[in-house]
Amino acid sequence: MNHSGEDKLYSITMEKITDFVFDDKVIRVFADMIRRSVPGYGTLLAMLPVIVRHFVTPGSQCYDLGCSQGACTLAIRHSLLVNNINIIAVDNSPAMVASCREQLAQDHGSTPVELVCDDICHTSVDNASLVVMNFTLQFIEPVARPALIKTIYNGLNDGGALLLSEKIQLADQDSKLITELHEAFKRSNGYSELEISQKRTALEKVLLPETIEQHKQRLYMVGFSSVVVWFQCFNFVSLLAVK
Ligand SMILES: C[S@@+](CC[C@H](N)C(=O)[O-])C[C@H]1O[C@@H](n2cnc3c(N)ncnc32)[C@H](O)[C@@H]1O
Repeated sequence: MNHSGEDKLYSITMEKITDFVFDDKVIRVFADMIRRSVPGYGTLLAMLPVIVRHFVTPGSQCYDLGCSQGACTLAIRHSLLVNNINIIAVDNSPAMVASCREQLAQDHGSTPVELVCDDICHTSVDNASLVVMNFTLQFIEPVARPALIKTIYNGLNDGGALLLSEKIQLADQDSKLITELHEAFKRSNGYSELEISQKRTALEKVLLPETIEQHKQRLYMVGFSSVVVWFQCFNFVSLLAVK
């Protein structure tokens, strides 16, 4: 499968815009789509090794929940400085998992990666020093989010961390400017007004952002001892929650 296609999925006027799904069509252009739509995505991946080396302890497990094509999985695998690590990468899109399997087959890292096609709400987490959820919680039904965060907390070792990246909802007075800047970012990456507007409609009922306060409150509620925003670019943030 060609993973390097240019994202043109929303470039032609659609009579009916269906809800966004991670299907074959998306997977063919996913790398291009995420790079051109999520400001700071490349920087997040580039910083991941620093976080991996800070938190991952020998003999523990790392999880990549909502792994897509394995960008974070591979970044984790290639930045480890400790031994006896197991990486568990989970995604519930069979097409994504197949594509991730192809990426892994071409990679020569020695750390074992267990690739699982499942709903992350059903994934058990155990002996974890680092759990990464990079732009995935936002696609989970809000009612299911507290239980998932609790499962992650319970499966982390003391001192372990959850790296949680999300598109966020901003307060009304900030939202207009930041949304404009995000859309300007997309335009500067070659997306047309039609593409921006049709994609927005497709994501409306599927990507459900929350405020930073909602995320922090839930993370503290389950027991995390510290929660910090370590990265933000417009309305995209990454939090580190430490057990
Ligand atoms: C925006 S992508 C994540 C990007 C990826 N983490 C990265 O850094 O490249 C969201 C992913 O979450 C997956 N996903 C959404 N809901 C899920 C669920 N309930 N269980 C498992 N994976 C899910 C989607 O299939 C998709 O691959």
